[in-house]
Amino acid sequence: MALSLNSMMSFPSHKLSSKSIKLGSPRVLMASTLHSTSKVAENLKKPHFAPREVHVQVTHSMPPQKVEIFKSLEGWAEENILVHLKPVEKCWQPQDFLPEPESEGFFEQVKELRARAMELPDDYFVVLVGDMITEEALPTYQTMLNTLDGVRDETGASPTSWAIWTRAWTAEENRHGDLLNKYLYLSGRVDMKQIEKTIQYLIGSGMDPKTENSPYLGFIYTSFQERATFISHGNTARLAKEHGDLKLAQICGTIASDEKRHETAYTKIVEKLFEIDPDDTILALADMMRKKISMPAHLMYDGQDDNLFEHFSSVAQRLGVYTAKDYADILEFLVGRWNVEKLTGLSGEGRRAQDFVCGLPPRIRRLEERAQGRAKQASIIPFSWVFGRNIIV
Ligand SMILES: [Fe+2]
Ligand SMILES: [Fe+2]
Repeated sequence: MALSLNSMMSFPSHKLSSKSIKLGSPRVLMASTLHSTSKVAENLKKPHFAPREVHVQVTHSMPPQKVEIFKSLEGWAEENILVHLKPVEKCWQPQDFLPEPESEGFFEQVKELRARAMELPDDYFVVLVGDMITEEALPTYQTMLNTLDGVRDETGASPTSWAIWTRAWTAEENRHGDLLNKYLYLSGRVDMKQIEKTIQYLIGSGMDPKTENSPYLGFIYTSFQERATFISHGNTARLAKEHGDLKLAQICGTIASDEKRHETAYTKIVEKLFEIDPDDTILALADMMRKKISMPAHLMYDGQDDNLFEHFSSVAQRLGVYTAKDYADILEFLVGRWNVEKLTGLSGEGRRAQDFVCGLPPRIRRLEERAQGRAKQASIIPFSWVFGRNIIV
């Protein structure tokens, strides 16, 4: 959702890792290594089933011997990370917030939900739909976690702490999309078929977080993302409340509190990595920030709008649900959380990475203010999610 940053910031990559080719319309799929006409023609026949943004993908960048670090942290993760999961019996479920289909009062409850939803503007629904679609692409995020060397779930039912975490985390997250999806369906305000198509496209596209199978990069990415979702669900809760829909505010706020708990777990893992391997951890943080944290739903498409994610991000920015300032704030928060400024005993390269990371939040804010100053012409875009109605982006 901080895509506006992509256009205004460009940091030199210290590794050859992310030569990015953003393809406009028509959406031909090709990697920089695939330039032959036959490949392009072939790809045209099966559009949207491969990532829309293709770059040189770096794999397995963590030295194999470092896998041992994660093996040795098994016991630590059991005591310090698994405790952030909630037992299923103590978890909320979507049904706790939705009309009861078995009850006599079901239709009345639906009517009330719809009456409250009538008070919310279309642009709010666009942002809520984008957040819901992001949650619904959960298969992609579980896949992403299972790309990480040393922590992946090797069998699908592996008994390691890392694998237990990933499965239970996924199971907790699964309630987020379910709840928002059912709420939006009942609200009657959005085009469910278009939304469902967008979800299908998005899961088919996958995502490209540039984490290179490295848990160092991967857990920095998830720390950032959990906080980003905590912020955006918190803001959709605040706006729902301002529009008088306290039940929706409670839905979004409840999801936000799960994200906060997940943020705590992931930031703890990275904190541990800083403790035992500060040099490689600061290099990983600088690397992720140079590449920029891409949002999980950055490849979203609804079959109509080639710039759907950018348009959704602009609305989220305009409504203050997730902004470029939030991106800088998250980084600043993490820098403080991990005591990055006070790290000692770093190599020369480590110290340079430390300086880069610590100087980044004010730099991002300055660029953002400058971009804001160049008063962007507001444009109006039809969103298929709200039946093609026009939304200011
Ligand atoms: Fe979530
Ligand atoms: Fe999350």
